[in-house]
Amino acid sequence: MQRPTILVTGANGQLGFELARLLAPLGDVVAADRARLDLANPDAVAAAVRGAKPALILNAGAYTAVDLAEKETVQAAAINARAPGILAEEAKRIGAVLIHYSTDYVFDGLRTTPYPEDAPTAPLNVYGATKLEGERAIAATDAHAVVLRTSWVYGLRGKNFLLTIRRLAAERDELRIVADQVGVPNWCASLAEATARIVGDGLPALAERAGMYHLSATGSASWYDFARAIVGDAGQPRGKARGKPRITAIATADYPLPARRPAYGVLDTARFAATFGFTLPDWQDVLSRCLAGRPDTA
Ligand SMILES: NC(=O)c1ccc[n+]([C@@H]2O[C@H](COP(=O)([O-])OP(=O)(O)OC[C@H]3O[C@@H](n4cnc5c(N)ncnc54)[C@H](OP(=O)(O)O)[C@@H]3O)[C@@H](O)[C@H]2O)c1
Repeated sequence: MQRPTILVTGANGQLGFELARLLAPLGDVVAADRARLDLANPDAVAAAVRGAKPALILNAGAYTAVDLAEKETVQAAAINARAPGILAEEAKRIGAVLIHYSTDYVFDGLRTTPYPEDAPTAPLNVYGATKLEGERAIAATDAHAVVLRTSWVYGLRGKNFLLTIRRLAAERDELRIVADQVGVPNWCASLAEATARIVGDGLPALAERAGMYHLSATGSASWYDFARAIVGDAGQPRGKARGKPRITAIATADYPLPARRPAYGVLDTARFAATFGFTLPDWQDVLSRCLAGRPDTA
């Protein structure tokens, strides 16, 4: 049987990099980073799909600078809202399956129990609003698209909370971390492995399961909890004779940022589990495996 071509956008991002690596056994991966495919250019997006003729598109590219998006609204919308719609249109035209990633930031964070897929959306910031528009643009095409909402993505490369905390832990005696925002940290490799697993069931099965799903590790944490787990598990930062920094819980109000964040963003993953037959482990176990440097064991 012919190996399917798999087009990965944002292939140098946290998730895109892992997808390109972990999906390679399942097909011929076209890893399109920003230099190869600018998602802000609609013609380039269509041309990339027409050129590669993929059976599967993994859209891991996104405008993820949450605070900057408050200013760069046009760029954020082009990448997060318009590009996913074009990818879906092009996927439909050639009978490809699209897997797209979205975020808990489509919700307002006012719930205190996990958000199911059909909970009302009400993003608090431009990033969340553009990601929601992207979801809607995909749905409007009626393409075979699986949309996976996730949260708090981290890894050992790129820009993320884990690497920031590790750096600050080596520099400072005290870290002041927000404790009144609750969500679930997700290792990019774990998300990529889950994606490989659902693709591994075959593209016809995936097409039949088109729809919106929440994909996340189990449990929940505040940023403060996450920081404590990172510093604790990471051990004493290198070159720091005086030991680990003190971690102090602060309120969101004590750390003002341009974009508002939801206070609660835990995603209910029951639909994903019922459809695909598995759940991700507890976020602390996933973090331990990430910090142990075994990226193949999501
Ligand atoms: N990060 C999170 O905490 C989080 C939480 C929930 C959901 N998500 C979603 O998960 C998915 C993967 O996110 P991630 O964490 O892997 O993000 P990431 O590490 O920021 O990766 C995003 C990638 O998209 C690329 N990109 C940005 N603008 C582009 C453009 N105009 N054309 C082509 N590529 C462009 C970036 O390229 P450059 O490296 O050149 O900027 C980067 O490689 C996204 O859909 C995101 O919305 C992320």
